[in-house]
Amino acid sequence: MNNPGFEHVYRAGSNPAAPTLLLLHGTGGNEDDLLPVADMVSPESNILSPRGKVLEGTMPRFFRRLAEGVFDLEDLRFRTGELAAFVRGAAARYAFDGANVIAVGFSNGANIAASLLLLDEGGPGRAGPRTLSGAILFRAMVPIVPEVLPDLAGTRVLMSNGRDDLLVRAAQAQQLADMLEKCGAGVTLAWQPGGHSLTKQDVALARQWIVSSAK
Ligand code: MLT
Repeated sequence: MNNPGFEHVYRAGSNPAAPTLLLLHGTGGNEDDLLPVADMVSPESNILSPRGKVLEGTMPRFFRRLAEGVFDLEDLRFRTGELAAFVRGAAARYAFDGANVIAVGFSNGANIAASLLLLDEGGPGRAGPRTLSGAILFRAMVPIVPEVLPDLAGTRVLMSNGRDDLLVRAAQAQQLADMLEKCGAGVTLAWQPGGHSLTKQDVALARQWIVSSAK
């Protein structure tokens, strides 16, 4: 479906009190990739799943990179603001609660989700509710170090990273967890035995985390 800016899927869930899941795929993925994950993590949730608009060759991403793990920070800031505006617009259009949105991001998608948390909407001086009330970040790294750390008190973040991930080193994941904690977020950093690929263990962990968040 087309909407200002992003090709996306929106699916209304069965429980209006459940968080809306903002699905953010990895490099080369699309809006369909994480739908099966969302069905396992929170089957009753609304789903908003945009496709990244930046093309690397033919591979969609959510922001530009200059090399593997080296990000174009100007583009990242711009894309973060653009995604935040898209989510706000979608909340109005589809009538879901914009104050109860949890990102589920993998790799590049997890990185832009972390940027949504860290850049406080990606735009200077914007007042109003934050885009994300929580985030599940699979294989995230530090996307950007903001000049001013945002206040993330009340925001819950689950990070799940692979011990043997060659793309995201353990120290990078730890640095992101530490930064989010410094902002006041409640962070759980879980280590999986594998590498960069998403596993059943990741999904099961995310399910448990969502269920415990709802209590
Ligand atoms: C990726 O391939 O997506 C990277 O590991 C993360 C990124 O570029 O954001």
